[in-house]
Amino acid sequence: MSGITTPARRGLDGVVAAQTRLSHVDGLAGELIIGGYELKELAGRVTFEEAAHLLWRGALPGPEPLLALRREMASQRALPEETLQVVRASRTAPPIDALRMACATLSLDMADPNDISPQADLGDAQMLTARFPSIVAAHARLSAGLEPIAPRADLSHAANFLYMVHGKEPDPIAARALDTYWVTVIDHGMNASTFAARVIASTRSDMVSAVTGAVGALKGPLHGGAPGPVLDMLVEIGAAEKAEGWLKRELAAGERIMGFGHRVYKVRDPRAEVLSKVADEMSAAHLEDRRLFDLARAVEQIALRVLEEEKPGRNLKTNVEFYTALVLQSLGLKPRSFVAMFACGRVAGWCAHVIEQHAEDHLIRPQSEYVGPRGLKTG
Ligand code: ACO
Repeated sequence: MSGITTPARRGLDGVVAAQTRLSHVDGLAGELIIGGYELKELAGRVTFEEAAHLLWRGALPGPEPLLALRREMASQRALPEETLQVVRASRTAPPIDALRMACATLSLDMADPNDISPQADLGDAQMLTARFPSIVAAHARLSAGLEPIAPRADLSHAANFLYMVHGKEPDPIAARALDTYWVTVIDHGMNASTFAARVIASTRSDMVSAVTGAVGALKGPLHGGAPGPVLDMLVEIGAAEKAEGWLKRELAAGERIMGFGHRVYKVRDPRAEVLSKVADEMSAAHLEDRRLFDLARAVEQIALRVLEEEKPGRNLKTNVEFYTALVLQSLGLKPRSFVAMFACGRVAGWCAHVIEQHAEDHLIRPQSEYVGPRGLKTG
């Protein structure tokens, strides 16, 4: 075949790249469906482990399969020594880079890293999802000059993470907040990192390779890297009455306002709705968190108005990252770790997509439109 049959779509905008049973994003209705359930049916009502089971096996688990999944994941939380060495060596690097480097080592203690059978994929999904928080927690401690804390098998996925970071059992409200956050971000249609994972899996490459690539794709500020800058923005603005001037100056300088705008959503991201409630609940007990939450709510309203005035018709609404920043901050986590925290939730979705892509077994290989010169001569 020669020549271009269809015009290139910038950024593959609107192109359907796969069929999936995992999640659906309706950007006009502001609806996110995960495994058949609307997000609001799941967030705050099922645990992260249950949501992961839904994606990996197609249904929410009954009590016994849930217990079995919890046990298996808890037994896989400890990191292999080689992985811990990489985390140590990368302790001054940003957490998301440490996670990418450590993730690549997770095939070292696998019986056959290249086994991409459905059974092996399920095992790999559990292992990767179980270990991501252990990597992020170990890195948080090492970068603060502390030794990592061994995981505890008797705690839930979320509670154990907070225990490994802070060294004490978390308040149940904090553990629930993190659990809800991870359920909220577990999957989201054909986003850039998921697409990256599926492209890699489509070559019949293994799950660890696909997930390592996805971590790299998530890192960028246009995808998962926005919540740290959201917090910086709120701190810089400082008071609601300064917001309008600050936002207008940023826009005039050609900057983007972090936490707003989305390729698919043209209305408020339903995840922002869930997470603003979580942030509200978490900030009830602490004066500083409350001040930040009240400021965020005020800045959100002003930003929506200013964006509509300065960028009319672009429908730039609040996205998931805006309140993520507040939820993670209230859990005592550092902004530099926010994108790695996102990865700890999204890893379950990436793995589910890899399982789906391996079953599909069809190479993803789009075309490009050549716009360079032709007929050049070397001599
Ligand atoms: N602030 C200011 N202007 C914006 C913003 C924003 N946050 N987002 C988009 N725009 C403007 C663009 O400058 C462009 O303006 P123009 O028409 O005058 O050139 C117009 O809106 C369209 O922008 P695109 O880049 O084509 O829109 P796209 O759909 O590709 O962008 C994106 C989506 C990348 C998320 C963008 O809205 C953005 O950069 N937001 C800020 C970063 C952010 O919050 N990222 C997290 C996204 S959520 C997630 O991935 C988990």
